[in-house]
Formats: sequence, structure tokens, C-alpha cells
Amino acid sequence: MKNLENIQGSRVYGRRLSKPLKKTSAARFNEYFPKYSISLADDENLDLSKLFDHEPKEYWLEIGFGKGEHLVAQAKAHPEIGFIGCEPFVNGVSGLVDHMVAEKVTNIRFFMNDARLLMDQIPSSLISRAFILFPDPWPKRRHHKRRIVSPGNLTVLSRLLKDNAELRIGTDHHDYCRWILARLLESPDFNWQSDHPDNWHKRPDDWPSTRYERKALAVGRKSTYMTFNRVPR
Ligand SMILES: C[S@@+](CC[C@H](N)C(=O)[O-])C[C@H]1O[C@@H](n2cnc3c(N)ncnc32)[C@H](O)[C@@H]1O
Repeated sequence: MKNLENIQGSRVYGRRLSKPLKKTSAARFNEYFPKYSISLADDENLDLSKLFDHEPKEYWLEIGFGKGEHLVAQAKAHPEIGFIGCEPFVNGVSGLVDHMVAEKVTNIRFFMNDARLLMDQIPSSLISRAFILFPDPWPKRRHHKRRIVSPGNLTVLSRLLKDNAELRIGTDHHDYCRWILARLLESPDFNWQSDHPDNWHKRPDDWPSTRYERKALAVGRKSTYMTFNRVPR
């Protein structure tokens, strides 16, 4: 398996534990990690169907789920779907586990590391929907190469997505929004669903809010909700 230093432009995070877990959360984390976390074998394709107890109807992927509110809400609303979430921070994954326990959700498997390591091992055309919600904007120009929405990462994502699959990206950062649109519009693999401004000004009803969206709203910043489709091959 590649390590983080081998991924172009990245050293994503130095520390992955920002603060110690509370006792109850730590106990839940220790119980859920062996059952629900994804580990990768060297250079082998990941067999998604083996991750779940029953073969799901579809697989949906969330990159950078934070504390997992959106992922758990989606998983609860769609028990027939197998959800795969990526988040390198222990505190984020612990937040996800707490929400999974509270909502009695079991159709999520999580990868506690850089999403790009996992994506490289997912076979082509298996993912029916992907979410990148409020990705870190890395506002300084010299850090733009760390942005998760990049031509290289979009190429990998387009390989994973089924024809017509949805890619949803939300952001409250004006400059990153323009960057995201530019990268997606120049990609031959994606079409933007943009027939009406409501498509990007209003959060769709089946798009649960996230912590970072609420943080932005609390300080008066509006967000943009973009939905793209994988162009059929
Ligand atoms: C600004 S937060 C947004 C969290 C959540 N999606 C929300 O909207 O509340 C961005 C998240 O992406 C995660 N992240 C950044 N780079 C990542 C990567 N390469 N793979 C997986 N997660 C990543 C960060 O750890 C962080 O939790």
C-alpha cells in the first residue's frame, strides 16, 4: 500500500488525534473499530461486497465525513445502501461511531486514513454516489496542491463512479467554490446539474446538513451545493 508521503502534493495531517476521547466514546470506538473499519491489504483490490453482512444494493462514498452527521443520516434513510466513509481523524471517527450507536445504524464501514489510499484500491465503476462536503479550502496559494478536489483526484473518482453516478460537493468558501467548478467543468467526465440557481443555492431535501455548513451559517456565510453526474463512458 502507498503511504501518505507518496501521494502527490500531500502531507495531509501530522496528528490524527486532536484531543483524548471521553471514556464512553473511547469504549464505543474500541468496540466498533474492529467490526466496522476497513483495512487495506498491499496492492490488492478491495472486495466491497465482503465489507457488509449482506450485499448492498449500491455503494455510496463520503470523503472527509468530519464527525459523521451527514453519513449517518444518509445511512439511516437508505438502509439498502452500503456506505463507505473516509476520515483520518480519530475524533471524527469516534463522532461517527457515537452517531451510529445513537441512530442504530450498521450499514457504514469507515476508513480511518487518507481517502486516496482507499480509492486507489476500489475497483472501477462500483460507486453510485459520492460526497465531498465542506472540504478543507487550503486558502493559501502555496497550499492549493493539498485541495482534495484536484484534477488527479477527480480522475480517480471518475474511475470509481458508475455511469451517471452523482458527485455532490458543498462548500462555504467562495474561492474554493470557483476552483471546484473550474476543475469539474474542465473535466470531460462530469456534467454539472445547473439548470436552475436553486440547484446550487438551496440544499436539496435529501442532503442532510453538516457541522461545517452549520458553522458557516452561524457566522452568516452561505454555502453552495453542487451536484455533478459521471458522464457515461
Ligand atoms: C472542513 S472538514 C468538513 C467535515 C464535514 N464534511 C462537514 O461538512 O462537517 C473537512 C474534513 O475532511 C477531512 N479530510 C481532509 N482531507 C482528507 C482526505 N485526504 N481523506 C479523507 N478525509 C479528509 C478532514 O479531516 C476534515 O474532517
